[in-house]
Amino acid sequence: MNTHDLDLLELETQQHLDEGVFPLIVNCEHLVAADDEGEPDAAADAARVAARVAKWVEPRRAELDRLLSRHGAVLFRGFPLVTVEDFDAFILAFDYPNFRYRDSLSNAVRVNRTERVFTANEAPPDVEIYMHHEMAQTPVYPSRLFFFCELPADEAGATPVCRSDLLWQRIKDELPEFAAAAEARGLLYTNVMPDSDDAGSGQGRSWRSTFFADTREEAEARMTTLGYSWEWMPDGSLRATTPTLPAVRTLDDGRQVFFNQLIAGFRGWKDARNDPSKAITFGDAAPLDRDAVHRLCDIADELAFDIPWRQGDVVLVDNYLVMHGRRPYRGKRKVLASLVAA
Ligand code: FE2
Repeated sequence: MNTHDLDLLELETQQHLDEGVFPLIVNCEHLVAADDEGEPDAAADAARVAARVAKWVEPRRAELDRLLSRHGAVLFRGFPLVTVEDFDAFILAFDYPNFRYRDSLSNAVRVNRTERVFTANEAPPDVEIYMHHEMAQTPVYPSRLFFFCELPADEAGATPVCRSDLLWQRIKDELPEFAAAAEARGLLYTNVMPDSDDAGSGQGRSWRSTFFADTREEAEARMTTLGYSWEWMPDGSLRATTPTLPAVRTLDDGRQVFFNQLIAGFRGWKDARNDPSKAITFGDAAPLDRDAVHRLCDIADELAFDIPWRQGDVVLVDNYLVMHGRRPYRGKRKVLASLVAA
């Protein structure tokens, strides 16, 4: 089976790269019309959607996974997905191992909707989530992400995605000194976590939730295992610093990617507790060249593709190859997420 079996869509803003389009867009509208007969019945509808999705996805699993590694992101448009249960069924059909939010060290406050599905980020609509690889500021991160548009925003609210291999190539070309330093020295991330969740911040997850700990001793035991250093603050918050993490990663196919949380941290880790200018340093604690970081943020903006959400859209993202973010928006936007373990 190959892409000839898939009905591909094109968008004007889609990028045309050497190894193919970015993102790949698959039209699944032909699944909508089939066999909708009889009285409306929510349970029966959910079962029908799950069966249709499984029938379409399962024989194509290996091919879709291969295409994902090549293109970095696949947008599935036109599936009859409406509810969180429909999305859950879609994810299940891929048979990837689940990565639980509970087990993650993510800074974001999230709310689980099913065992696998949670809200993408509870930060307010006017807060931009800058581009990042999911959880690359921690030693444990997912291999892939699913996003589902349950309800598009009234205005704006796209999910920008950016190919990190292309970004790294541009950084090496335009900022060779910074590139060499980042590759050789890695990065340290420092985050001040509140005592209880602060949903008003893009990184408001409490240290209790982050480290799945009820007491300071339990949090300290987890941080010791992970190689973190820390300091308790007078207000009960925790300043935690990661071990040195790589800034660049080499994929199985030899491509190098700028796999880290530098852009999101440098631009966006700003709240009552956190100062983005102090959040990230080189692995030896030396400060970053701010001009270089500003420039690479601009390059990532140039390379970004904005996913124009429609209700029912699903995007599957290769977390090693592609960064994602969230544009500010107006209205009630509901985009749900699910993570895949490595
Ligand atoms: Fe994210």
